Amino acid sequence: MPTILVTNPKGGSGKTTISTNLAGYFASRGHHVVLSDMDRQRSALNWLARRPTDLPLIHELDGRGKHADSLSADWTIIDSPAGLHGDKLSDAVKRADWVVVPMQSSAFDMGATQDFLDVLREEKAVRKERTFVVMVGMRVDPRTKSAQKLQEFLAQAGFPVLTNLRDAQIYLQAAEQGLSLFDMRPSLVNRDLQQWAPLLHWLVNAS
Ligand SMILES: Nc1ncnc2c1ncn2[C@@H]1O[C@H](COP(=O)(O)OP(=O)(O)OP(=O)(O)O)[C@@H](O)[C@H]1O
Ligand SMILES: [Mg+2]
Repeated sequence: MPTILVTNPKGGSGKTTISTNLAGYFASRGHHVVLSDMDRQRSALNWLARRPTDLPLIHELDGRGKHADSLSADWTIIDSPAGLHGDKLSDAVKRADWVVVPMQSSAFDMGATQDFLDVLREEKAVRKERTFVVMVGMRVDPRTKSAQKLQEFLAQAGFPVLTNLRDAQIYLQAAEQGLSLFDMRPSLVNRDLQQWAPLLHWLVNAS
């Protein structure tokens, strides 16, 4: 059962956005998806509670224990809290096949993420190549200098950068309504779906 951990200790980096959209994508493809939420704020599970019941089902797991559903899942997506570190981080990385690290372009984000990537690199599961780490640039406006700095940062990060997602209101609208971009009218999200494609393609082919 492929498991994806979405993590970055920096608050607001886009973890829940990536987690909920990945869950929505795999559910829209007819897969049995479990969305696990390690965060006490329960943002991912609150999103799931807002999800219209006529959309493809996503099963929930509150992150505290095993759930029968996760055993038969095609995909388990784990959203994690800001500040995840130490044994909890190691355990979560060990359980995951892939770690997706979203990051934004501010100096604060780059500073916090640099240290985190150094920690991730030293995780046994990562060193032994049992868990793969990939990066996603979040809220990237390619016209800006900070986007350029982010690309320079990502290029030397040592982990593949699978895509950059633009800053778009549609993410907030989707979150409010319990939707993923994959549940929305294609004409509203065309450009964004194109940005998601390399990440999805990579995950599906690597599984
Ligand atoms: N590409 C984007 N475009 C516009 N808004 C975005 C984008 N990605 C995330 N956001 C918004 O940024 C805010 C923070 O994102 P999100 O909640 O996913 O981060 P997080 O890492 O889960 O935060 P926390 O550390 O608090 O759990 C949210 O309001 C979200 O809707
Ligand atoms: Mg979150």
